[in-house]
Amino acid sequence: MKQPAAQAVHLADYAPPPWLVDEVHLVFRLSPQATRVLSRIRFRPNPATEDRTFRLDGDGPRLVRCAVDGAEAAPEVREAGLTLTPPDRPFLFEAEVEIDPEANTALSGLYMSNGMFCTQCEAQGFRRITFYPDRPDVMAPFTVRIESDLPVLLSNGNPGAAGKGFAEWHDPHPKPAYLFALVAGDLVPQRDTFVTSDGRAVDLAVWTRPGPDEGRCAFAIKSLKTAMRWDEAAYDLAYDLDVFNIVAVDDFNMGAMENKGLNVFNSSVVLASPATATDDQFAVIEAVVAHEYFHNWTGNRVTCRDWFQLCLKEGLTVFRDQQFSEDVRSAAVERIRQALAMRGQFREDAGPLAHPVRPESYVAVDNFYTATVYEKGAELVRMLKSIVGDEGYRDALRLYFARHDGQAVTIEDWLQVFRDATGTVPEHFGRWYSQAGTPRVTAEEEWEPKESGGGTYTLRLAQETPPTPGQPCKAPMPIPVRTGLLGADGSELVEERVLLLEEAAGEWTFDLPERPVPSLLRGFSAPVILRREADDAERAFLLANDPDPFARWEAGRRLATRLLCRMAGGARADDALPQALRALATDDAPDPAFRALCLALPSEDDVAQALHDDGAAPDPDAVHAAREALRLAVSKAMEDVLPGLRGAMRVTAPYRPDAEQSGRRALWGAALGYEALLDAAPAQAAYCEATNLTEEIAALSALLAAGHGAAEAEDFRERWSDERLVLDRWFSLQVRFAAPEKAAGTAEALARRPEFDLRNPNRFRAVFGALAGNHAGFHNASGAGYDTMADWLLKLDALNPQAAARMSTTFETWRRFDPDRQARAGAALDRILAAKDLSPDLREMAGRIRD
Ligand code: ARG
Ligand code: ZN
Repeated sequence: MKQPAAQAVHLADYAPPPWLVDEVHLVFRLSPQATRVLSRIRFRPNPATEDRTFRLDGDGPRLVRCAVDGAEAAPEVREAGLTLTPPDRPFLFEAEVEIDPEANTALSGLYMSNGMFCTQCEAQGFRRITFYPDRPDVMAPFTVRIESDLPVLLSNGNPGAAGKGFAEWHDPHPKPAYLFALVAGDLVPQRDTFVTSDGRAVDLAVWTRPGPDEGRCAFAIKSLKTAMRWDEAAYDLAYDLDVFNIVAVDDFNMGAMENKGLNVFNSSVVLASPATATDDQFAVIEAVVAHEYFHNWTGNRVTCRDWFQLCLKEGLTVFRDQQFSEDVRSAAVERIRQALAMRGQFREDAGPLAHPVRPESYVAVDNFYTATVYEKGAELVRMLKSIVGDEGYRDALRLYFARHDGQAVTIEDWLQVFRDATGTVPEHFGRWYSQAGTPRVTAEEEWEPKESGGGTYTLRLAQETPPTPGQPCKAPMPIPVRTGLLGADGSELVEERVLLLEEAAGEWTFDLPERPVPSLLRGFSAPVILRREADDAERAFLLANDPDPFARWEAGRRLATRLLCRMAGGARADDALPQALRALATDDAPDPAFRALCLALPSEDDVAQALHDDGAAPDPDAVHAAREALRLAVSKAMEDVLPGLRGAMRVTAPYRPDAEQSGRRALWGAALGYEALLDAAPAQAAYCEATNLTEEIAALSALLAAGHGAAEAEDFRERWSDERLVLDRWFSLQVRFAAPEKAAGTAEALARRPEFDLRNPNRFRAVFGALAGNHAGFHNASGAGYDTMADWLLKLDALNPQAAARMSTTFETWRRFDPDRQARAGAALDRILAAKDLSPDLREMAGRIRD
């Protein structure tokens, strides 16, 4: 695929668009290999600038005809776009272009998936459809006419005239081109209606291919209605069109896309039935449906001025979907899951790909849809809320929508809203958006007993952020540290407080009846790494006693991580952690989902990262061996309670994917997993008796992780060979649980099977995402993991640069390891960089990782 020359774009170079658009009218004459797109675009000079350069982005469309105010024009068309000398007044631009959706394997722009036409325009796919000012600060109402014999023809906004072979759509809300969407195919709807708080009826539909998928939309529709109601109640935001359509597409680069009135979803995050989706997938569907719906206000009605501001919509919308999940599920459990997702962000921050939540330059903007922009972006909104309080947050958001509805805005506008509405945001909060890296917060304490009894407790906090690429020095940022102080009996000695560490160091004193055990960073109140000289006894105390569930979980996590680090260095497993987990497993008070999360040991990658933080080069084999040994030690310590726990957690009621049942199944699965290390029979029986995919996958995983399960895996593949999404699970499990020295070979063999399809990103991720997730396998000393990954990234890059660039992040930790491994990983990266016809997307990523 021919790509335009790659050049970095800089935030500092932003200039307003010389021309604005009043109206867009598009006609699509669909044909798989030769679709014609006719555009009529009304331009007017932007009064905010003197610049009158007229340049339209275009990446691939073949210009057939072009006119200015009805007169034929002869623009200059180069690789990256079209230029012409415009009249000095508003004018009508018309063009007819031809594109080839079937040849579009990049899945950006207009492409085909299983005989269906669909689009993905964020970030810069619209320019692959036709010539246009493809930048988010150009917003316009769109009218679209689709001409095709296919039975279902969809676009944004409200439906207009339709008849044999055509359908028209009108979207009255001005939008940037990245929110354009078109879908056409042989599709069937699952319908419902929703009446908004202001009394308008909205027709809802989830569209799938005819066949079994039709019966797998109910949960998505239910989630959509819950999300619509929630946004009205929590944010006073109601839906604003007559219809809301969701389409499930099998070939899709990301999770889903919030196109106005026509969301397009990767089928993996919309289709679900108890037999074909696990509890975790149901939860993801609920969250993603909500996320895309919430974008209708945070993203669509108020959008981003430029792509550097991506976190403006993504950070805020992730935060909103987190709030939603906390409300409809268990807040404590959701917060722990969010913290787990933030570990991926810490990894990004600790390596060559570290970048600020608002980056300052990029080559391919699609490379910046990252954990930093999304997850850390959401944490910044959460911190703002905790600094200004619930009411301040509500006022700020109200002002945000009142002031910026219909606009394309920046992070400065966002922060200004908080200052104007609340006046309490520290001036230097903006650094959270501009400085990359994870702050380290050190806690030190002092206890001065008083003669009268009790004493004075002093807590000193200090912050420091390590250098990241391009940012050697960091300034202090405001860090809210939610703090509790516990007495020896586990009671709270003072009311919980948020200590706001604004400068490099801060100090707080408390008069207390006894020396406390501090519980710091409760609820994960800031995206920082807490450093504290704590001993295992204190961590065990917090794991047993902290009233804050996040802090409790975190204490257990630390205990396990420290132990695994020691074991990777040759120490033997001690009994403190296994006994603590045993106590927790048999304590009926905490929510089963919480107990299941506590029973899961940190991943090998987490342990490697902890060792790296301590300045050591992690040995993947030693880390793997340590984790296996600790799993076995925990199994043995719990041997006598596991069958009882499993029996107590077994769900016999009809399947529901809600938090309560999923939590029980999660704890049941955790018990089964530990039990399988000692005895395979219960997991074998569970596999045979499973009545839903959650139980089936839990049993199969338990067997594979214990070195059994070959027959069950074969049975699973045969039974599910016609179900793409379930078969993805089989591909993934094979690699995930392969022995380290076999992981690369397993991935290679799977990628050569007939069911493997390079054009389907889900399948690629199933195999190669799992290879990266097999830590000791990917980082095997032979270098086979690196080589196999590089081979397949290059194959994928030739078809789908965006997907290949994304997957290349599997290399981001390569500098952590010993010189031998580094040499092999470096060679694999060099081989990628030397490949001829490498895409700018993968070049940017591999180059940043290699540097
Ligand atoms: N805006 C979408 C979401 O987070 C993600 C689309 C990203 N697409 C891309 N090609 N980078 O909901
Ligand atoms: Zn989003």
